[in-house]
Amino acid sequence: MLAMSTKLQGKSFLCEKDFSKDEFLYFIDLAMKLKEEKKQGVPHRHLEGKNIALLFEKPSTRTRCAFTVACIDLGAHPEYLGKDDIQLGKKESIEDTAKVLGRMFDGIEFRGFEHKKVEILAEHSGVPVWNGLTDQWHPTQTLADFLTVKENFGRLEGIKFVYVGDGRNNVANSLLVGGALVGMDVRICSPESLFPATEIVEIAQDLAKQSGGRVTITSNVDEGVAGADVIYTDVWVSMGEEAKFAERIALLSPYQVNREMIQKTGNDKVIFLHCLPAFHDLETSYGRDIHEKHGLAEMEVTDEVFRSKHSKVFDQAENRMHTIKAVMAATLGNLD
Ligand code: CP
Repeated sequence: MLAMSTKLQGKSFLCEKDFSKDEFLYFIDLAMKLKEEKKQGVPHRHLEGKNIALLFEKPSTRTRCAFTVACIDLGAHPEYLGKDDIQLGKKESIEDTAKVLGRMFDGIEFRGFEHKKVEILAEHSGVPVWNGLTDQWHPTQTLADFLTVKENFGRLEGIKFVYVGDGRNNVANSLLVGGALVGMDVRICSPESLFPATEIVEIAQDLAKQSGGRVTITSNVDEGVAGADVIYTDVWVSMGEEAKFAERIALLSPYQVNREMIQKTGNDKVIFLHCLPAFHDLETSYGRDIHEKHGLAEMEVTDEVFRSKHSKVFDQAENRMHTIKAVMAATLGNLD
C-alpha cells in the first residue's frame, strides 16, 4: 500500500484513463480500509492542517457533501467556492485563478462544464486537482460505483456491468473506460444515436485488451442485459440539456429500468445502481413538472425497482465519501 501511495503523491485525479489498473484498484482498497476505520471510530487524519478548495460551477448534493465530510475526517479544512463566489473564467482566467489558488490551498476539487477547465487547473495550480464532474468524465463516481460492486460481489474482474440509457454522458464515459480498465465485461446499452463517441470506445477497447475485460456497445436490450450482475442507469437528460426532454423520452423509454428488465437479466442477484439524483416518483418539483408536460410519473427507473432488494443506490451514495477520501489521502496525504 505504501509504495503505491508514494507513486500517487501530488497526482491529480481527472479521469480514469490517467491511471493504471493497479492504481485504480488501490483507490478502492484504500477506500474500503478508510470506511472500516470510520465505522470502528479509528481516526485517519492524513490531511491534518491542509486547506482544500471546493469549486462548484454546478449544484451538487453527494459530491459536495462527500468532499466536505472527507476533508473534515482527514483533518483538512474545506472551503466551498460556488459559481458566484469567485471570478473563475469570468473576470480572471482559469490559469491565473489556478496560480492564485495553488498559493493558498493544498488541493482543489472542481465541478463544472468543460473538462478543459479542470485540466488547466491541474496544469497551473501546482497542487493535486480532483475532478468532481465535468461534461466528459465523472471519475469519483466510478470509484464509488466500483466499491459498491466489490462489496456485493467481492471482485470487479469479469463482472457483467451494464449501463442502460444515455450512452454519451459523462457517467457512461467514465463507467465504460473505468470498467474496461479493471477488467469488467462492460456494456453500454442505448439507442444508436446515443452511443458513446468513437474515441471513448477506442480508449475502452485498448484498455480491455490489457485487462482481459470486454466492451460491448449495443442498442438491443435483450442482448445488453443478459446475465447482468449490475444494471446501472442515469437521468435521461443531463444538467444543461433540459430542452431535449421530449426527444429523450421518446428515445429512451424502451431503456427504462423496470421489473421486466431486471427479469430479463436472468440473475436474481443482479444489483441496481444509479449515480443519483433519480426520477423515480413525483416527490420533486422537477419530476412533477415533467409529469405535467410529458405525462411520465417515473423515468429512467421505476419506483418499484428503485425501492427493491436489487437497489444499492444509497450504499453507492455513501461510498462517494469513502472513495473521495481515498483519492485525497492517496494523492495529498501522509499515509505513514
Ligand atoms: N452523483 C452525483 O454526482 O451527485 P451530486 O450531483 O449530488 O453531486
